[in-house]
Amino acid sequence: MGMVLGVVDRLCCSPINMNLHRLLRNKWAGALTLAALWFFAAGCATPGRVATTPPTGEPIHPGAVWPDDRGQHLQAHGGGILKVGRTYYWFGEDRSTGLDPARRYVSCYSSSDLAHWTFRNQVVKLTDPENLGRRWVLERPKVFYNSKTRQYVLYAHIDGNGYRFASVAVLVCEQVDGDYRYLRSFRPLGHESRDIGQFIDDDGSAYLIFEDRPYGFRIAKLSPDYLGVEKEMCLIPKHMEGGAVVHYHGLYYAIGSALTGWKPNPNQYATAPSLSGPWSAFKDIAPPESNTYGSQSTMMLKVVGTQATTVIFMGDIWKPQNQRDSRYLWMPLEIGNGKLWLPEPKPWTLDLKTGVARTIPSP
Ligand code: GAL
Repeated sequence: MGMVLGVVDRLCCSPINMNLHRLLRNKWAGALTLAALWFFAAGCATPGRVATTPPTGEPIHPGAVWPDDRGQHLQAHGGGILKVGRTYYWFGEDRSTGLDPARRYVSCYSSSDLAHWTFRNQVVKLTDPENLGRRWVLERPKVFYNSKTRQYVLYAHIDGNGYRFASVAVLVCEQVDGDYRYLRSFRPLGHESRDIGQFIDDDGSAYLIFEDRPYGFRIAKLSPDYLGVEKEMCLIPKHMEGGAVVHYHGLYYAIGSALTGWKPNPNQYATAPSLSGPWSAFKDIAPPESNTYGSQSTMMLKVVGTQATTVIFMGDIWKPQNQRDSRYLWMPLEIGNGKLWLPEPKPWTLDLKTGVARTIPSP
């Protein structure tokens, strides 16, 4: 380990240096950091550039620094993905340094292979629209496309410093990566709403998942124009956030994390034959002692290929002391027959055409 630390200290990449010693105290974080180092060192080998443009099939490295086309670590925390045509758009909290402290930012990236991301725009650069105070928050943005109104509709958790406003913000835009306009905030169906999640079913219907602190978490259908929430599908009476749902081979799988703020905890899942339930008991998605390998769920992304359907777990590895350096844990899930399991994070590749995901064997 001492040798590894020595090598790390000589590396050119300061964000890793700053956090390395702390990270390596923890087993899982240590493993993820080594993956990050490998990846980052490869980037640093090309003078003046962190990101290269590798060929399709380039691995995704869970927990690593993930540079965009500009060589900057992706700022899409607590994010979500929308597929438009063949292009994936990743939206998330932009927590870069040097931003205007009065504003909250959402960035948008595009990709055709889920591994290489091109920065498109800071689609939200909003000043406090509801007089929530200096430390107001705009978190977990999710974008839906409404084909009837031809509008992109962005939902986010909007709150004050004490998280008592507990509402959603709705913003719209005619272009997927344009500048979104703030419309309003509200409590879905009159309920408290903190962490939100997004689910689009195979028939295209769109749902908001939201954490309702007194009761549990709810899944509710959006109104026809997506600007409101019109019908509750279920209340799962379990106190969970970071909620995500996937429909896989006739069964709905819901995952979420416990309420431990930025600290990771064992995320769990339940299944149901329909969104309105009945939902099974919750079970761990990973060895509980790993605390979901240091991450918290934000979405499950289903990729349907010619040979396989892969469901990707998308989680955030939060770094509350240095949020811009928070990482992403993306891994293909083992899923089917009512079971869901997040394997130990390893670099992996995805063939978008066939839908086949492969982990890369350790050297
Ligand atoms: C987490 C939540 C994050 C953020 C954080 C603040 O539980 O998932 O989105 O709200 O708490 O402490």
